[in-house]
Amino acid sequence: MGYEGSQLKKAAAEEALKLVKDGMILGLGTGSTVKFFLEGLSGLVRNGIKVKGVPTSKETARLGRELGIDIDENYAGEIDLDVDGADEVDSNGHLIKGGGGALLREKLVAFNSKEVCIIVDQSKFKDQIGGFGLPIEIFDYLHSSTQRNIEKLGARCTLRKQGEFITDNGNIILDCDFGLIQNPEELEMSLKKIPGVAEVGLFNGLCHKIIIGTPDGIKKMDIEPA
Ligand code: A5P
Repeated sequence: MGYEGSQLKKAAAEEALKLVKDGMILGLGTGSTVKFFLEGLSGLVRNGIKVKGVPTSKETARLGRELGIDIDENYAGEIDLDVDGADEVDSNGHLIKGGGGALLREKLVAFNSKEVCIIVDQSKFKDQIGGFGLPIEIFDYLHSSTQRNIEKLGARCTLRKQGEFITDNGNIILDCDFGLIQNPEELEMSLKKIPGVAEVGLFNGLCHKIIIGTPDGIKKMDIEPA
């Protein structure tokens, strides 16, 4: 990602900061776009705003604490606003996530949030998702069988870093190529039925708002979750 892409990510993150209100419980996503959000949030906290952050990865927890944000890794209630990045997003709010390997905690936090705002640069906004590939978190136990069962659904899969990439949850990641995904809801449901699948990087019906950084400025979309 070049300088321009980083600027666009930063612009999207700064727009999302406008949604933050005093007293909010915030879901804190993972990745380079969210890092800009965390840096901005740290500035708001220094200026006196009070928020609690529920992180979607150990890395975000570490960074958040370093930036002076109150972090709760086991928050029990509903989260007001989750701000996260994505690897791909379409106009219906379907997302591909997991490029950084944090998809399981990201989906848990998104599911438990009243509002989910996705921040991306324009290269991530697609007519149809799937070109990036689909990360799937699976258990190590019998992982070759799990891979075979996923491939029966029409994918070619490779183990991330030959199985040496270990997630925050102690699992491994399969990077799966299904081509462009015609029916994200159906694919997610089929994958979740396979024993050994811990979580799927397809997020459907979870995203309420998309903020896209483009060279022509910020574009915003509101999505009605299904
Ligand atoms: C982490 O597992 C991913 O879902 C990230 O949210 C996604 O990869 C976006 O990352 P960047 O903001 O670094 O592009």
